[in-house]
Amino acid sequence: MRSAAPCKPYRGPVTPEEIRRASRGWWDSDADNYQAEHGDFLGMVNFLWCPEGLRENEARLLGDVRGRRVLEVGCGAAAATRWLAIQGAQVVGLDLSAGMLRHAAAAAQTSGVLVPLVLGDVLALPFPDGSFDIACTAFGAIPFVEDSAAAMREVYRVLRPGGRWVFSATHPMRWIFLDDPGEGGLYAIHSYFDRRPYVERDEAGVPSYVEQHRTLGDRIRELVGAGFVLRDLIEPEWPEGHEVIWGQWSPLRGRLFPGTAIFVTEKPTR
Ligand SMILES: C[S@@+](CC[C@H](N)C(=O)[O-])C[C@H]1O[C@@H](n2cnc3c(N)ncnc32)[C@H](O)[C@@H]1O
Repeated sequence: MRSAAPCKPYRGPVTPEEIRRASRGWWDSDADNYQAEHGDFLGMVNFLWCPEGLRENEARLLGDVRGRRVLEVGCGAAAATRWLAIQGAQVVGLDLSAGMLRHAAAAAQTSGVLVPLVLGDVLALPFPDGSFDIACTAFGAIPFVEDSAAAMREVYRVLRPGGRWVFSATHPMRWIFLDDPGEGGLYAIHSYFDRRPYVERDEAGVPSYVEQHRTLGDRIRELVGAGFVLRDLIEPEWPEGHEVIWGQWSPLRGRLFPGTAIFVTEKPTR
């Protein structure tokens, strides 16, 4: 969710085509802002799972990645893809937004860590069945597609049996609050059970940003429905002394309730 929009945001129907156009347009046009605002915290070669500051080098949710074929979906500027490459993984970073991938390509030059980047949609991954040992994303792709159950099935398809799928997203309970890192974000005003998309529109009334809410139960049902086994659900706690504010994530709120959910899942071997 976002806090500022030219027209009043609403929750209501939006077509899959409007969603795709809004996502691509939003992330293309916001890519510079996003990197200017969060680039330092995200780092150049760094796998950050969430605004709480949990990094893969300490969390090790992907297991040993050396020599593994790893797909990062919704990679954005691909700091995590580059970190995985440095660890010895055979990586691919995929994103819907050419604007974000332009930042990824520039950062590859700056850092000297060149990784394959693919323009694509999590709903139609351009890879054969069983191409990867691991798939992952930090806040990429999943919250932005209407049919997230189909996204889970698509990730399942490109993983080999025994492969792992780990993704972080805004914790579903945040849906009940305003997107406000301060006191205004401490009061429940929306129903947790309201699954209507959050939609911002431009001056012409065209959807320009769309984000989807699923309850914890919905997410687990999507994963299990696709065939995954859920191994863990991590709700990172706000660390003592961590003062970084990222959008609606803040120390004030982080000390009271979770801001991120990380799903650790596996495709069964048979
Ligand atoms: C919040 S950003 C996260 C980027 C990156 N993972 C990070 O940690 O900075 C969300 C990303 O998901 C991408 N995205 C949105 N919809 C997508 C889709 N359907 N398929 C693939 N990527 C998508 C956006 O283009 C954007 O780069």
